[in-house]
Amino acid sequence: MIRKTALFCTDTGPTSATLPPLVLLHGFPFNGRLWRRQVEALQDLYRVIVPDLRSFGRSVGNDPFTIESQADEVHGLLMDRDALPCVLCGLSMGGYVALAYARKYPATLRGLILMDTKSAADTSEAKLQRQKMIDLANTSGSLAVADAMMPKLLCEETLTGYPEIAKEIQSMAGENPPLTLAHALAAMRDRPDLSDYLPSIAEPTLILVGAEDAITPPALSQEMHRAIPNSTLEVITGSGHVTAMERPDQVNVAIRNFMGGFGSQSV
Ligand code: MLT
Repeated sequence: MIRKTALFCTDTGPTSATLPPLVLLHGFPFNGRLWRRQVEALQDLYRVIVPDLRSFGRSVGNDPFTIESQADEVHGLLMDRDALPCVLCGLSMGGYVALAYARKYPATLRGLILMDTKSAADTSEAKLQRQKMIDLANTSGSLAVADAMMPKLLCEETLTGYPEIAKEIQSMAGENPPLTLAHALAAMRDRPDLSDYLPSIAEPTLILVGAEDAITPPALSQEMHRAIPNSTLEVITGSGHVTAMERPDQVNVAIRNFMGGFGSQSV
């Protein structure tokens, strides 16, 4: 795929001689704003780069894409911004992109954070469900997709106790055209199974998952943890699938501890 324009991203925080930049890839149907609470908490410590993936949020593009082409786009962006090697973190669909990136560009990574995600491809049943969601995006728009997903995105405690989080998700989904969501659903449906690749991941890897994640349940993270040699698994209590928003304090501590393994904070 030919990269016509760079992705939109925010790029904040100090450049460090020792600590690699932290790059945060959003899931579906979000955009980079998913990571607001991480940027606020971590940008004083590290250079934090948050792209909107191609077609999402403030990044342009109407063409179909694949998970791998999104990984290529992220690599191009990070080269352009002189941000490699980095620690790459992806939530859910962002995790699919991070794994595709790690397989293709391992030498540009210092570490990997896989959050609420999985390495396996869609099952036949899941592929059928993707088509239903594509039809929903085409006929009823982006907010309808977010509404349909909401009971699985957030755990009951978040849905009832923090209704502003569901509103924030709807607002992000509304910033993505229905065509983008349809392309992303097709890209997720067609992505390959990367489970066989996991034992080859040499970089330190942190795996985070919400204890009540209904889309990529903890058992899938445990499987990845068993397969990735240098990995650590943390289960985030009181969270569904969107741990970065539902339990930002726990997530931020886990990221800080992981980043500490790459050296001390210095500018
Ligand atoms: C996401 O949060 O990115 C999606 O729910 C992932 C998926 O549907 O497979």
